[in-house]
Amino acid sequence: MNPYFELNDGNRIPAIGFGTWPMDDDEAHEAVRLALHAGYRLIDTAARYGNERGVGLGIADAGVAREDVVLTTKLRGQDQGFDATLRAFDESLGKLGTDYVDLYLIHWPLPRVDKYVDSWKAMLRLKEEGRIRSVGVSNFLPEHVERLRRATGVLPAVNQVELHPDFQQGALRQAMAALGIVVECWSPLGRGEVLENPVLETIARKHGRSVAQVILRWHLQLGLVAIPKSQNPERIRQNLALGDFALDDGDMAAIAALDAGRRLGGDPATYEEF
Ligand code: A2P
Repeated sequence: MNPYFELNDGNRIPAIGFGTWPMDDDEAHEAVRLALHAGYRLIDTAARYGNERGVGLGIADAGVAREDVVLTTKLRGQDQGFDATLRAFDESLGKLGTDYVDLYLIHWPLPRVDKYVDSWKAMLRLKEEGRIRSVGVSNFLPEHVERLRRATGVLPAVNQVELHPDFQQGALRQAMAALGIVVECWSPLGRGEVLENPVLETIARKHGRSVAQVILRWHLQLGLVAIPKSQNPERIRQNLALGDFALDDGDMAAIAALDAGRRLGGDPATYEEF
């Protein structure tokens, strides 16, 4: 079971995808092949991860039709700007061994650098050319998204952000929902750090599921896309097996109460990586 959510541009995205950070090329090659065999159809990478070649090989080896895979990659900081974005996109395609990506994201806004609007304009051109199916952003605050809209009239289809039970992003979720932007969650398992929470363990026992499955089911029921990363075949399968149980209102409220407002990654207002 892996339902799809509708995007604001008419395309669709699976609710559960496969994250590949911090795998190298060889690890990503094997893990992506396993993930596609297990039934994942959304694969997430980034130029910055340095594993696009491995991801491309994993897709080629899996024997799954390219058109059935929602392949995502991201523009790194050093490639922001109109012309640089066009060049970086070509480089990513070459490494991935494909002639289009389904979802291309600006990896971080880098507000101090102030080139994300130019990068966005280049992405809109690539979309017109049919080489990007959906354009999106990552780690954008509502004010950054608003600026894209003012400058181009086009909203992202997706905003990929850090979101897990320790860092639930209520205000951002509300702002994106009001704009019709799907929120995609990186580190949905809090990089493994929330897996030993006793509240989650109790809910998991009640349903006869793992804590990871409870967390991913929580994302799903909130209408959020989640992209758990695993290199373990059993856990890769487990993270997709969310279909035959449901969290009740009490479970959802208990998880909501765990929000600690604690992020593991950078603050988009100030974080810079190139
Ligand atoms: P592994 O690759 O050994 O499975 P996130 O996606 O939030 O960044 O979390 C990734 C971390 O969580 C990795 O360390 C991964 O380790 C671990 N992980 C992924 N799925 C599960 C699972 N079902 N149960 C326990 N740990 C998991």
